[in-house]
Amino acid sequence: MFPHPAPTCDRPLPTSPVAGTPSGKVARMTNVPGPITPTSWSYAEGFVVEDDVLIAARARAEEVGVVPVGPGAGAALRFLAAVIEARAVVEIGTGTGVSGLWLLRGMRADGVLTTVDVEAEHQRLAKQTFTDAGIPAQRARAIPGAALDVLPRLTDGHYDLVFCDGDKREYSAYLKESLRLLRPGGVVAFDNALWHDRVADPSQRDEETVAIRELGRQVAADDELVPLLLPMGDGLLMAKKASSVVE
Ligand SMILES: C[S@@+](CC[C@H](N)C(=O)[O-])C[C@H]1O[C@@H](n2cnc3c(N)ncnc32)[C@H](O)[C@@H]1O
Repeated sequence: MFPHPAPTCDRPLPTSPVAGTPSGKVARMTNVPGPITPTSWSYAEGFVVEDDVLIAARARAEEVGVVPVGPGAGAALRFLAAVIEARAVVEIGTGTGVSGLWLLRGMRADGVLTTVDVEAEHQRLAKQTFTDAGIPAQRARAIPGAALDVLPRLTDGHYDLVFCDGDKREYSAYLKESLRLLRPGGVVAFDNALWHDRVADPSQRDEETVAIRELGRQVAADDELVPLLLPMGDGLLMAKKASSVVE
């Protein structure tokens, strides 16, 4: 039946069978696949190819000094929005619309993205991205302003998904607002959860790294959440809010 002997394991075992965790405890990691190579990482990042509209949005992002989600994280966001059939999504940090377009393409055809950014010029560029992609104007509601001023004005329990990609130092506050905004069973996602390899390195103590590490601790410690950290791009942390029934 099999032309070759069945492999005994998919990839080499890690040289170090322990790892730090958000709780500070040491995770026992025996008999798990080792780290992937840069070649495999690039293959995974480019697995879903971006079209000309997203490439143009990335070029605009570079011009204004914005760093969008990578293609892998974008594809993960689209997948997530599609799986939960998202109708109402909040985004913190519009940028030039790269993540917004990925989200809109995964959401239901009648879904509305509410996207918040402190820079009105970034939102103008994002609207250009959405128009270029043929997204009807009524599907993207861009609200200019600081996230922590705008979010309290949005409706409690109304949203299927909140994607956070604004000021990293405010991530814990975004989590609190997101859990208020989400319906039961909704999902919150944070970009840059690995923050340029700094979060996993305890010697890195800058303000943003510490804030993202603290967010990871909060998410991992909350029994009401189902957490997942995807190492796509710069790290995509996700958590599902408890449904009304006990999980
Ligand atoms: C990393 S970029 C977002 C990129 C975008 N999510 C994408 O992938 O295309 C961060 C954005 O957050 C905005 N921002 C920074 N601090 C903010 C705040 N406190 N409230 C709202 N937006 C903020 C910046 O102006 C910038 O456009």
